Amino acid sequence: MTTNIAVLVSGRGSNLQSIIDSIESQNIRDAKISVVISDVKNAFALERACRHGIDAIFIDPRSFVDKKAYEQEVLKILGQYDIGLILLAGYMRIVGREVIEAYRNKIINIHPALLPSFKGLHAQKQAFDYGVRISGCTVHFVDEGMDTGPIIIQKCVPVLEGDTPDTLAARILEQEHQIFPEAVKLFVEGKLKVEGRVVIRT
Ligand code: GRF
Repeated sequence: MTTNIAVLVSGRGSNLQSIIDSIESQNIRDAKISVVISDVKNAFALERACRHGIDAIFIDPRSFVDKKAYEQEVLKILGQYDIGLILLAGYMRIVGREVIEAYRNKIINIHPALLPSFKGLHAQKQAFDYGVRISGCTVHFVDEGMDTGPIIIQKCVPVLEGDTPDTLAARILEQEHQIFPEAVKLFVEGKLKVEGRVVIRT
C-alpha cells in the first residue's frame, strides 16, 4: 500500500529534494509525496514541489486568529490527502498538540545536531560555538517537546580545523540528505517501532 506523505517546509527545501529524489529513483518504494505545505509564501521548497508535479500549498499563519486555527487548516489539508506520514523538512514552527495527537509517531523531523544537544534554532552554530569536536544530525519522531522525540537515526560529522559555522553546516547538510530518506524508507517499510522513547528497528 502506498504511504501518502505530506512535507511541511519554510525555506529552501534541500531535504525535501532528497526525499523527492529517493522516491523518484525508487530507493523509497510505495510512497508518494502528496502535498508540500509551506508557512512561507516564497519558500523555494514550493517551487521544487511544483517542478516535480507535487501539490504545493502556502498557508499564511497570519490569516488565522491563532495558532490553533492555523493548525486546523493544516489538519484539514492533511485529511484531504489521506496522509500517513508527515515530514518536517526545515519547517520553522513548533507543531501543536492537536496535530501531534492526530499523527502520533507519524511525524518525523530532521535536526542539524546530535540530539539531545543543541536543540532549537541555529544548532550547527550552537555546536560550533560550544567547541564540540563532533557534531552531526538527527532524524527523530516529533513529540510535544522541542526536538525531544524518539531518535530514529543519527550521523556524526567531525568539526575540522579551519571550520566555520557555515562549512560545518554544509557538511552536516550532506549527511542530512542521507539519513532523512533512509529514515523515511524504514518508516514506509514498517520497520520502525516506538517503545517509550526508544525506536526499535524490526
Ligand atoms: C536543515 O538544516 C534542517 O536540518 C533544519 O532546517 C534546515 C532546512 O534546510 N531543520 P532545507 O530547507 O531542507 O534545505
